[in-house]
Amino acid sequence: MTRIIALTNQKGGVGKTTTAVNLAASLSSLKKRVLLVDLDPQGHATMGSGVDKYDLSKGGALEVLLGDKRADEVIIKCGEAGYSLLPGNGDLTAAEVDLLSHENRERCLDDAISGVANDYDVVLIDCPPSLNMLTVNALAASHGVLIPLQCEFYALEGLSALLDTVEQIRDSINPSLEVYGIVRTMFDNRNSLTRDVSKQLSDYFGDVLLKTAIPRNVRVAEAPSHGLPVTKYAKLSRGSHAYRVLAKELVRRLSL
Ligand SMILES: Nc1ncnc2c1ncn2[C@@H]1O[C@H](COP(=O)(O)OP(=O)(O)OP(=O)(O)O)[C@@H](O)[C@H]1O
Ligand SMILES: [Mg+2]
Repeated sequence: MTRIIALTNQKGGVGKTTTAVNLAASLSSLKKRVLLVDLDPQGHATMGSGVDKYDLSKGGALEVLLGDKRADEVIIKCGEAGYSLLPGNGDLTAAEVDLLSHENRERCLDDAISGVANDYDVVLIDCPPSLNMLTVNALAASHGVLIPLQCEFYALEGLSALLDTVEQIRDSINPSLEVYGIVRTMFDNRNSLTRDVSKQLSDYFGDVLLKTAIPRNVRVAEAPSHGLPVTKYAKLSRGSHAYRVLAKELVRRLSL
C-alpha cells in the first residue's frame, strides 16, 4: 500500500525540507519507490533536489493542484538521488486565491496525486511554514504526518497548535489521518535546553517521538547548494548516517 506522508510544522526553519529531501533519498536507497511533492512556494525541496525552480517548463505543483496538468506530466526523475519529484515554486503563492474558486478546494492535491500514488511506495509532501490552504491540502491527501521539530523553548507551544489542526482535519475531511511521529532535528545533546525539551517530548508523547534524532551537522546544511541530499553529497557524515537510520526506523514502524 502506498503511504502518503506530510512533513509539516507551521514554525519556519525547523528542518521540514531537509528531512523531506533526505528521507526521500534514504528511502530510495532502501529500494522504496519515492515521490517527493514540493508544496512550498519557496521551492526549497525542488532546489535541494537539483532542479531549477525558475525553469519548470513542464509546469509544477500549482498546475497540478488546479487540474491544468496531470501529475505524471510534471514529475521529474532525480537521477542521482533516486526519487521522483513533483516540483514547486513561487507560482504556488497564487494557490490560496486560485483554489478558492474550486468546489473541493481542500481535496485538490488528493485528486491530483491519486492517479500516480500507486506507482510509489511512499509519497512525501514538503509543506510550507504555515497552516494555510496548501497545508490543508497536504493533510487532506495524507495517511499520516511527520513533524520535524527543533528542541528549543518555543517548540512545544507551536506543536500544540499543530496537533489541534490535525485533530480538526480528522474531524472534518480526513478521519484516518495519523501522527506518524515527531522528528528531532538539528539536535545537539551538549545543550541542556535541548536535553530538557527532548525529555519533555519523550515523557508526553512516548512512542510518537521517533528514536532517531538528526544531529546539527554542517554537511547537512551545505548539501542543498549542491542540489543533492546529504546522503549523496557527504555519504559518511553524521547527518547522512542519521537520515539513513531514520529511514530504517520509519520502514519498520510503518511497515513500508
Ligand atoms: N541537521 C542539520 N544540521 C545543520 N543545519 C541544518 C540541519 N537541518 C536543517 N539545517 C539547516 O537549517 C535551515 C532550515 O532547514 P529547512 O529549510 O529544512 O527547514 P524548513 O522547516 O523546511 O524551513 P521553512 O519553514 O522555511 O520551509 C536550512 O538552512 C538548513 O540547511
Ligand atoms: Mg521548507
